[in-house]
Amino acid sequence: MEASGSQANQAFGVDIGGTGIKGAVVDVKTGQLVTERTRILTPHPATPGAVAQVVASLVSGAGWRGDIGATFPAVIKHGVAQSAANVDESWVGTDADKIFTQAVGAGEVIVLNDADAAGIAEARFGAAKGVRGVVIMLTFGTGIGSALLMNGVLVPNTELGHLELDGYDAESRAAASVRDEHGMSYKKWALRVNRYMQHVERLFTPDLFVVGGGVSKNADRWVPLLDLNTKVEPAQLLNDAGIVGAAIAAVERLEE
Ligand code: BGC
Repeated sequence: MEASGSQANQAFGVDIGGTGIKGAVVDVKTGQLVTERTRILTPHPATPGAVAQVVASLVSGAGWRGDIGATFPAVIKHGVAQSAANVDESWVGTDADKIFTQAVGAGEVIVLNDADAAGIAEARFGAAKGVRGVVIMLTFGTGIGSALLMNGVLVPNTELGHLELDGYDAESRAAASVRDEHGMSYKKWALRVNRYMQHVERLFTPDLFVVGGGVSKNADRWVPLLDLNTKVEPAQLLNDAGIVGAAIAAVERLEE
């Protein structure tokens, strides 16, 4: 499939993760990818310059000129990375919007937090579509990401994965990576997730939780074990949530 140039309802979405960087052109009216998703391994070290080169080659590989949105796993304030919990330290203070836009040279790039992008996508096209009130999306991966939405509108950079819980940074107890590292059963890990989500529930009394990240594929193995007053829905967009949310942010200029 070939994408040529920019179209009003389309943008190129990029999802930057610790192992891979994925991108595709998205129709933001339907949430569908209109080109095949391309994936390039994340460079090591994943410095701003090296990642910017990968973003540029994904965009040029698709022949795209126009709006571009990119997710990044850190606090992003007006395009500038403010934290580096699971990424190279050199990102702190980096104007990601600027260096990506310069590297790509074919359109303006808007960068936003990865969980925020996933939350926007789930609110438009997935598990939180049409849900009124407060929705909290939590993504369980290397860390824990969060997106807080009220009537579908995002409050950016909530970073609920870094709530302190029993004296620990919550993501160091309940991220999916912790389950992998310790070879924990879903049952055992779900106890930790439950403890964490009960805490978030107490603070926000949401109308709905959406749980995402790679573990949402196996939601049936742990979501039914959670004991919460709030309904919990697994994310629906799985692999594409970041790409779709980033593209929406680009078209709608949802800069954080
Ligand atoms: C980061 C967040 C990110 C989350 C998921 C956390 O460690 O602080 O910014 O959204 O991981 O990648």
